Amino acid sequence: MIKKGIILAGGSGTRLSPLTKASNKQLLPIHDKPMIFYPLSVMMLANIKNILMIINPGQTENFRNLLGDGSRFGINIKYKIQDKPRGLPDAFNLARSFINNDNVALILGDNFFYGQSLTKKLEKSSSHSNGATIFLKEVSKPENYGVAKIKKNKIQKIIEKPKKFISNNAITGLYFFDKNVCEFAGKLKPSKRGELEITDLINEYKKRNKLKFEMIGRGAIWSDAGKIEDLSNVSSYVKSVEKVQGIKIACLEEISLLKRWIDKKKIIENIKFYGNCDYSTYLKKIII
Ligand code: DAU
Repeated sequence: MIKKGIILAGGSGTRLSPLTKASNKQLLPIHDKPMIFYPLSVMMLANIKNILMIINPGQTENFRNLLGDGSRFGINIKYKIQDKPRGLPDAFNLARSFINNDNVALILGDNFFYGQSLTKKLEKSSSHSNGATIFLKEVSKPENYGVAKIKKNKIQKIIEKPKKFISNNAITGLYFFDKNVCEFAGKLKPSKRGELEITDLINEYKKRNKLKFEMIGRGAIWSDAGKIEDLSNVSSYVKSVEKVQGIKIACLEEISLLKRWIDKKKIIENIKFYGNCDYSTYLKKIII
């Protein structure tokens, strides 16, 4: 079982400048909610209640103002500062005492997942305790991502931002690891661009025949919101789904209520916390 999760919500956010000059990227809006709600909802849907949020220096107050210690959502959130972006696997060096030799999931704070059969796949992945699971999605520009080449239903090759085409399957920013992850991460060396690479970490599992994958099919969407265009595309997507269907994507209280981690009383408290807004109106609707 995987009961702990890390959300990597640091980084410089340079590609979103000037939006990120005074604000943290993961607190920027995706339509009607801060970006961080979306990866947090993924962790919750995977039944992960113990979260370590890795954030930039100076951001603790902002994150705490928004999410607190997680109890408003029936979960437990702790915060850890990353003093500079050393690469994604640095999360495991920073989170060593939080992980404490358990299995752990990692999600990138700027990743958006939504759609059919995703919840089942998340529940399945978090119920494993051996090896690693990555989530793949077909994309039109694989050169922007870590990429996996699949042959005979097995991962054959993994490359970070390949210059030459090897496959359209991007490795999304959601990973489930067994307890060996800290040991493997501790041995990684920075790549040519000076960062620890998540693909090197995943390759450690592949070498040992311990790497599984899930495909995110056509009925679901994945995007990272690292560039202006992605941010605005994802926002428009959330806006249209929510408008047409009258539901909210990544309403943390709704997920928590369904899982019986909080009750209606807590939601009434949360409505007071948010004040008179569209999100509160939705919360009122779900407790009728
Ligand atoms: O989004 C999926 C892609 O994410 C994967 O396909 C790639 O294999 C993976 O390397 C990563 O690529 P990016 O170029 O998108 O990573 P980026 O540097 O933008 O970092 C992703 C998020 O993690 C971002 O929200 C900032 C945060 N971050 C990043 C680094 C390097 C940190 O919090 N700390 C860090 O040290």
